[in-house]
Amino acid sequence: MIQIPKGCKDVLPSQVYLWHKVEETARKTASAYAFREIRTPVFEHTELFARGVGDTTDIVNKEMYTFLDKGGRSVTLRPEGTAGVARAFLEHGLAGGVMPFKAYYLISAFRYERPQAGRLREFHQFGGELYGAAGPEADAEVIAFAAAFLQNLGLEHVALQINSIGCKSCRARYHEALRTYFAPHLGEMCEDCRTRFEKNPMRILDCKVEGCKSIAANAPRMLDYLCDDCRAHFEQVQSLLTQAGVAFTVNPSIVRGLDYYSRTVFEFVSAAAGAQGTVLGGGRYDTLLEQMGGKAVPAVGFAAGMERLLLVMEAEGKLPAPDDGVECYLAGMDKHSRAQAFLLAQRLRRAGVSCETDLMERSVKAQFKYADKTGARYVAVLGERELAEGAAEVKDMASSASERVKLKDLANYIIQRRK
Ligand code: HAM
Repeated sequence: MIQIPKGCKDVLPSQVYLWHKVEETARKTASAYAFREIRTPVFEHTELFARGVGDTTDIVNKEMYTFLDKGGRSVTLRPEGTAGVARAFLEHGLAGGVMPFKAYYLISAFRYERPQAGRLREFHQFGGELYGAAGPEADAEVIAFAAAFLQNLGLEHVALQINSIGCKSCRARYHEALRTYFAPHLGEMCEDCRTRFEKNPMRILDCKVEGCKSIAANAPRMLDYLCDDCRAHFEQVQSLLTQAGVAFTVNPSIVRGLDYYSRTVFEFVSAAAGAQGTVLGGGRYDTLLEQMGGKAVPAVGFAAGMERLLLVMEAEGKLPAPDDGVECYLAGMDKHSRAQAFLLAQRLRRAGVSCETDLMERSVKAQFKYADKTGARYVAVLGERELAEGAAEVKDMASSASERVKLKDLANYIIQRRK
């Protein structure tokens, strides 16, 4: 039997209510912050991610699902959502439209990683991107949006950590400081870090190899190298968050795994999620759009990992209750009444009542059992006598109370008793 590819997961009908809850909360929160949905393709030209996400990142170097299509073009399954949104924004000339531009997405993304709990090869993100506003208010608004989403999911133990990784000019000074610091240790560091040393020494701070991690522990910190503008920006972001009641701590070691960031970066971390504790990450990326060939448009955004959120919701005891079953199960006593139940079901559905009827020639007892197992709210029994009266015997499955109800009144009977 063929099995699911490693690192992927099926969501079965019995579990999909969990996803609906998270997606619905995402859409509602986005709407409160006036972000509208954007949908972009699952695959893009490989070049987009190489340039956008950055060719010194693990994502681009090791984790992309890249292949040649039948026309010989290199395409890649999106490893994240930001680059595609930026491409669409530029391609549709939206830089000339109403600003700020605010968009959210609910997407699947693909990274060839070593799978473990909370780390998959196909995973799902809820993300938001805001373009056109360079000031710290935009950073604070995007972070507040992310915090509100987690709060609306009921999560209480997810901590916000923020940092600033400066702009091009102050980062150049910082890179020099990092090179001076790491140069004497190069011999003890992994091969990847030796390449990072040349291309982007800040990436060394994100290395997962123990030896490199312990060397990096005492490396200079970006916060000590911020230029005056970046420092003022970061201070204002913090002040706005405090005023907005969004709790945070400054964590100088956050560098993020993607190259496009500048100034503010942030992560929401849960202790409950185990090793993959970062449930949401983001930051400002003021140079990406220009780097992609557009005009310079300041940008800030975030993305949350849906699978990780569900793990944290479970750990915090915040998973929602399963959906109810249908409102009304129509049970037929014999062949004739089952046929009548089939027709009545169509009428009820047209009236907006969800209902089901027997499709497997089951006995009334077995039909009741099915209705009970699937959580039907009412069971309406149709037999010879009921049909002669133009009525059904309707049982409320929660209270076990029964009542005779005229068939023509059945839809209203159910609608009026909705919770
Ligand atoms: P990221 O930190 O690479 O950022 O991913 C965001 C979130 O996606 C992570 O915090 C994590 O919850 C989830 N995630 C990432 N990789 C996996 C995986 N293999 N399995 C399960 N979940 C995963 C970005 O993707 C940026 N585009 C965020 C952003 C938007 N920055 C600005 N705008």
